[in-house]
Amino acid sequence: MEMVLKKILIVDDDDQLRKSFEKLLKEEGYLVNLAASGEAGLESLKKEIPDLVILDVKLPGMNGIDTLKAIQKIDNHLQVIIMTAFGTTDTAIEATKLGAFEYIIKPFDIPEMLSVIERALDTSRFIRTPVCLNVNTENDAAETIIGQSPSMREVYKSIGRVSSTNATVLIRGESGTGKELVARAIYQYSLRTNKPFQVINCVAIPETLLESELFGYEKGAFTGAAFRRIGKIEQAQNGTVFLDEIGDMPISIQGKILRLLQEKSIERLGGRETIPVDVRLIAATNRNLEEAIEEKSFREDIYYRLKVVTIWLPPLRERKEDIPALVEYILGRKSREMGIVNPGISNDALKSLVNHPWPGNVRELSNTLQQILIFNQGAPIGEEDIQKAIGEKLSEERLHHEKGNETLWQWVHQELTNGGQTKTFNEYVDHFCKILITETLNLTGGNRSKAAKLLGLSRPTLHSKIEKYQLSLKTEVDSASD
Ligand SMILES: Nc1ncnc2c1ncn2[C@@H]1O[C@H](COP(=O)(O)OP(=O)(O)OP(=O)(O)O)[C@@H](O)[C@H]1O
Ligand SMILES: [Mg+2]
Repeated sequence: MEMVLKKILIVDDDDQLRKSFEKLLKEEGYLVNLAASGEAGLESLKKEIPDLVILDVKLPGMNGIDTLKAIQKIDNHLQVIIMTAFGTTDTAIEATKLGAFEYIIKPFDIPEMLSVIERALDTSRFIRTPVCLNVNTENDAAETIIGQSPSMREVYKSIGRVSSTNATVLIRGESGTGKELVARAIYQYSLRTNKPFQVINCVAIPETLLESELFGYEKGAFTGAAFRRIGKIEQAQNGTVFLDEIGDMPISIQGKILRLLQEKSIERLGGRETIPVDVRLIAATNRNLEEAIEEKSFREDIYYRLKVVTIWLPPLRERKEDIPALVEYILGRKSREMGIVNPGISNDALKSLVNHPWPGNVRELSNTLQQILIFNQGAPIGEEDIQKAIGEKLSEERLHHEKGNETLWQWVHQELTNGGQTKTFNEYVDHFCKILITETLNLTGGNRSKAAKLLGLSRPTLHSKIEKYQLSLKTEVDSASD
């Protein structure tokens, strides 16, 4: 629903390639600027800073590496993806050491390339969207962590205390409580804010790739390792690495993270060299790590290392006094994004929002308000709009808890005979998917790797469904209360 399109600058001397890139990226919903040389690229940057640059290493005139360095001088937070042909990979590797986000090899595998672009844009947002603590700024682009409750004030204090240190930080809390926002704040207020930054989502990257993504590899380390590759940790040298969803990191990789924490060094896959690295680790998880240790999916030694500085984010239902301020903030922000006038909300409606338990926390509150804004088309938000939006969720929830297909049949029958077309085919299918995934996660105690195996899905696919249906929290709550 973000209305703001991301801007990408392509720098390549090959006319054909620029054109096909432009077409492809526009179709994907990006805005595209083009430049045929390093010099032209820099000119374009001086006029307008994009969200991402895709840069050829082999350029006439100013070469790719010098262009990269010049880009970094203009804005060292700008993410750059390097394009390289088979013969020029050494330069591309050099570029990643210099801080380029990633390199892609021509001819491109399009889905893979789009996924690299998406990750680079994510990193860019993480680094560049300023996060403020509990203040209403004039800066429209900034995001604010809202909340005056005692527990949130503790969070701000912790952020203040840890930011200027190099301490490893563990951020815990249910899904949607703002862990990522806090991680961004810590990074932005830290001494390393002008140094490299890498974010790795331990669930979104397939298990088999995660290790090489983090640690890199030497040529010949495995079939298909045609070149050396610098891992994200090494790329973050002197900077910060954010390990999101660390509770879901495969146990085989956890040992290497422990070594990083203890000895401040890594080895590339298939390499014998010990590489000293100075990186600050910020980690986040919504999993119950103590339980994970018991079922041997999380190492105790790494847990003790990580938990020294822990920031706990309270669930929204335990800080209801913050809801009115959040609602005001979210309505203002979403209306602006949608280009509409903030319709306002009645007192009764606000009361309902305050009294709702919000199992999906701030994310769920935010999605609910957005849904109402779209549905209402500018009309003021009243109590009945809230009841309708929340009521739909409640009937879904009831469904999650009533087991046996008898209920499912009955429910479908009821919906269909309720008069009029209430749901589309896909909405019915979504309902079923939610039940299926929730139940699987319940069975595995929230362990996503196991759940993915049970369903025959890849971890990233499962992860994207969990995100789509906002399910991770419910399973945490369910498994905690069982
Ligand atoms: N205190 C807050 N003030 C304003 N917005 C918030 C706050 N907490 C969370 N949000 C918003 O709610 C959404 C979810 O937050 P975030 O992604 O940080 O959650 P998370 O804890 O990382 O969840 P998950 O475990 O599912 O990854 C984001 O859009 C974020 O901006
Ligand atoms: Mg998160």
